Amino acid sequence: MAKAVISSTGLHTPPYAISNQELVDAFNQYVDIQNDRHKAAIEAGEREPLVYSSCDFIYKASGIESRYVVDKEGLLDPTRMRPRIRQRSDDEPSLMAEIAMDAGRQALDAAGRSPEDVDMLLVACSNPQRAYPAVSIELQHHLGLRGFAFDMNVACASAAFGIQTAYDAIRSGTARSVLMVNPEICTGHLNYMNRDCHFIFGDACTAMLIEADDRAPDGGLFEVLGTRTVTQFSNNIRNNFGYLNPAEDPVRDEFDQLFKQQGRKVFKEVTPLVSQLVVGHIEDLGINVPDIKRLWLHQANINMNKLIAKKVYGRDARDAELPSAIHEYGNTSSASPVIVFHLNSGDLQAGDVGVLCGFGAGYSAGSVVVRRL
Ligand code: COA
Repeated sequence: MAKAVISSTGLHTPPYAISNQELVDAFNQYVDIQNDRHKAAIEAGEREPLVYSSCDFIYKASGIESRYVVDKEGLLDPTRMRPRIRQRSDDEPSLMAEIAMDAGRQALDAAGRSPEDVDMLLVACSNPQRAYPAVSIELQHHLGLRGFAFDMNVACASAAFGIQTAYDAIRSGTARSVLMVNPEICTGHLNYMNRDCHFIFGDACTAMLIEADDRAPDGGLFEVLGTRTVTQFSNNIRNNFGYLNPAEDPVRDEFDQLFKQQGRKVFKEVTPLVSQLVVGHIEDLGINVPDIKRLWLHQANINMNKLIAKKVYGRDARDAELPSAIHEYGNTSSASPVIVFHLNSGDLQAGDVGVLCGFGAGYSAGSVVVRRL
């Protein structure tokens, strides 16, 4: 049976950065406009006034300082409060395919591979841009890949599930070279009028080339030692957007077609789910926890990640063991553990073992244990 190895990764970072201060200024202007508009109702006690957001809260509660986005102007317009994305014709590459092309080409170039080398393409992300044709098949066309492609969605855990799918395909012989891409335009489904969550997401796209070891250049960068996934139903992170919305009677509120969460409950429930998944997986692979050199975790909340790492190691993690990108990128859903892997894996020594872990809505979580070659 072939071994599955990671040959390379790629990262597309959108062109615009938004600081907490810019986001909070726009939100607070929105609050002023709304409170002024509803002044009479507020004074009559019929309506609660909206309350300002704060940079201090955002940084302390999440660790986020900034995020990259595909559009800045629409987001920061207090009379709009959502990104402005130009509608493209059916003959143009979709925005999602466009950012995926950049990340995918980076991964191919980094491994010195040409498109014909790839025989399976996965777009694994929280929100494919449309129902069909699959974004992955569009991307396959634009990149000039052969073989087959499909989209898969396991929310923020999509990349971990995607790596598992690639690993299984390589080991079973279904594919020899798999490009997995995670385009996330999270700003499109974030409610910028909701103080509880307006700050959490950013946009990005990552790519990973996973291949049979005898195919990978120089045998690959990391061997995938094993993958493990788990799901457990919860409504605490939910998005009711879907193809039945236009048919629903009564028509669903537009805010109910955006991301919503019970952040505190998610924090409490997902932290043990993830730490138990990772520890059980490591132990079942016969690896000692102290031998884990690095955790590349989903970037939803810095405090949550510190707690997960503490539960895994049985002590506070050292900075080098728990790299972070949340301060700069925010939460980029499935792309986020691959971003930290992309930015913080080159320094590991041959034989070093690390764990990439994605987790989120569903709940869903996936652990991928890798060894530096
Ligand atoms: N600015 C200022 N204050 C705010 C605020 C904002 N933008 N948003 C909320 N607050 C206030 C709340 O009103 C509340 O005030 P109260 O104590 O007077 O009631 C207080 O801050 C705490 O709010 P809470 O929502 O409980 O904050 P939190 O500490 O749980 O942090 C998250 C919120 C979202 C950062 C945090 O819960 C989180 O990251 N959870 C994990 C989410 C996750 O992993 N999701 C996966 C998605 S892919």
